[in-house]
Amino acid sequence: SLRRLAKKHHPHLDIGTAVSPIPLFADDAYARLLAREFSMVTPENVMKFQFIHPQPDRYAFAEADAIVEFAEVNRMAVHGHTLAWKEALPRWVTQPSHSDERLRQILAEHIAAVVGRYKGRVRSWDVVNEPFEPFGAALRSGSPWYRAMGEGYIAFALRQAHRADPEARLYINDYALEHPGPKSDAMYALAKSLLARGVPLHGIGFQMHEDMTEDYQPVAASVFRDNVQRFIDLGLEVRISEMDVNLHEDDSEERLQDQAEYFRAMLELARDEPAFTAFSMWGFTDRYSSLQEWWDADGFGNGLIFDADYRPKPAYFSLRKALRE
Ligand code: G3I
Repeated sequence: SLRRLAKKHHPHLDIGTAVSPIPLFADDAYARLLAREFSMVTPENVMKFQFIHPQPDRYAFAEADAIVEFAEVNRMAVHGHTLAWKEALPRWVTQPSHSDERLRQILAEHIAAVVGRYKGRVRSWDVVNEPFEPFGAALRSGSPWYRAMGEGYIAFALRQAHRADPEARLYINDYALEHPGPKSDAMYALAKSLLARGVPLHGIGFQMHEDMTEDYQPVAASVFRDNVQRFIDLGLEVRISEMDVNLHEDDSEERLQDQAEYFRAMLELARDEPAFTAFSMWGFTDRYSSLQEWWDADGFGNGLIFDADYRPKPAYFSLRKALRE
C-alpha cells in the first residue's frame, strides 16, 4: 500500500488524505481503504469553527474525536484543519456587533480549547488557512480576525496555538502558491517576517487544487520545485496539503494517464526533498470528493486516485511506482 511503501522507502513523508465522518463511519469499504493506504488524515470539515464550536458556550467535539480515535487505532497521524479562517464561521462569530477585543478573546479561547483538547494527538495544524485573496498579494481583509487585529491576527493565532500545544507543528495553508508570482511572493515575505519576529511558524501548506483539461495543463513540477525551494531555505517544513487534479467531466484514458503522470511528478518532488513532511490529497475516492459538490454542473471532477467504485485509477499505480523508487 502507499503508506507501507512510504514508510519503507521514504520515512520522512506521510501519505495523507482529507476525511469526512459520514463515509468513514457508514461505509466499510471507505474505512478499510483509508486505513490500508494512508498514514495521515486531515478532517475535511469537522474541526472547522462552524462545526466544532457552533455556539459561544458549546463545542461539538464528537465527530472530530471519532476521527482522531480512528486514526490512533490505525496508527495514523492527524493534521488539524483549521483554526483561523475567513470561512466556515458560525453566525454568532460573524455577527457585526462584536468589539475588536471580544473577537480577540473569541479566537484565543477557541484555539486554546480546540488545540488543547487534541494536545499530543494532533501532530500539526493549519493554524491559519487561506490568509490571502484568491490571486495577488493582498491579505484577505474580510474576516472578523483581520477586522479586529489586522495582519496581527496571524502571529496571534500561531502564538495561541503554540501555547496550547508546544509540540504541535504549526502551518499556514493556502492555494495558488505553487506558481511564482505575487501571491507566493507575499506568502514568502509573510513567513520570513514571522520567523524574524520569533513567531512559532513551522511550515507552509501548498494546497495544489489543480485543473487539467484538454486545453489546460497545471503548473509544471519543475516550476513548483523552484518556487518551493525558497520556503525550504527559510528553514520551514512544507507539505502538499489538499491535492486533487480536476479533470471536469473528462474521464478518457488519455486524461487519466496525464493525471497519473502529474500526481507522480508531484510525489517524486516531495519524496526527494526531506523538508516535505506530507503528500496529502483532498480525499481519495471520486465517490466522496469536494469536486463533486463544487463542480456539479461540469460532472464529477474525477480528481482523486480511486474512482467512485473504489477501483484504483492510473494515478494510484503511478503513486505506488514513485514510492517504490
Ligand atoms: O453537513 C452540513 C450541514 O450540517 C450544514 O448545516 C449545511 C449548511 O451549511 O451543509 C453541510 O455542510 C457543508 C459541508 O461542506 C459538509 O458537506 C457546508 O455547507 C459546505 O460549505 C462545506 O464545504 C466545504 C468547504 O471547504 C467549505 O468549508 C467542503 O466540504 C470542503 O471540501 C472544502 O475544503 C476546502 C478547505 O477547507 C480549504 N481549501 C479548499 C478546500 C476545497 O474547497
